[in-house]
Amino acid sequence: MDKSNRATVLAGNWKMNKTASEASELIKELIPAIEGANCDVVICVPYTSLDVAARLCKGTNISVGAQNCHYEESGAFTGEVSVTMLIESGVTHVIVGHSERRQYFGETDITVNLRARKAVSKGLIAIICVGELLEEREAGITEDVLSRQVKAALSDMTQEDMEHVIIAYEPVWAIGTGKTATSQQAGEACRFIRGIVEELFNADVAKSLTIQYGGSMNPSNAEELLAQEHVDGGLIGGASLKASDFKSLVDAASK
Ligand code: PGA
Repeated sequence: MDKSNRATVLAGNWKMNKTASEASELIKELIPAIEGANCDVVICVPYTSLDVAARLCKGTNISVGAQNCHYEESGAFTGEVSVTMLIESGVTHVIVGHSERRQYFGETDITVNLRARKAVSKGLIAIICVGELLEEREAGITEDVLSRQVKAALSDMTQEDMEHVIIAYEPVWAIGTGKTATSQQAGEACRFIRGIVEELFNADVAKSLTIQYGGSMNPSNAEELLAQEHVDGGLIGGASLKASDFKSLVDAASK
């Protein structure tokens, strides 16, 4: 399958790191470092840094993303942020269904689908995260889990909606642990996900879908992971918080 059909997207997931002033410093380092990137670059920053990120990244090759969004337009949802609010802040991407939200904040397959649908309906790119737990991999049910998560997340989406979807395969056991999936494991899981999308939609949608790998991707393993036929970029946690590391990953994704 030809990778040139789809965008390679490298997205930093800053998680709950960096105050707005710290974000500003890091972004000022990042802008010149990655201006020659030959891939799409996104930084998903905390809500409090969205404004500064959008202002600094305007006119650069860096897009700004959020790490979550609500599925209602407005209302009594204390602590939540709507897609319209994000768009007004200059956001173009949003992570949905990250395993930390599933694990610690009660995110379910159903709410992942609601959030993702709301995001794409308003024109944001939803980076939908899926991935198995260690015990699920050990029990040999990785594919069952991925199939369930992908089908649920994409439920009721149209082919047009899929133009606004990225899927990030993030095995939960590899996130922030320093344990990376082997490039073969990552490649197989991404291939499997593409197959599910083909089943749900058609070969064209599957062929043009960007599927990222995430989980302890760093400058020493990125090249091999990104060389996999079905891996079209990365969702990067720890290594997105240091300009030099993130630049190395952007360079690897630009090859
Ligand atoms: P990590 O996080 O790169 O620190 O493992 C990836 C993620 O959670 O998106």
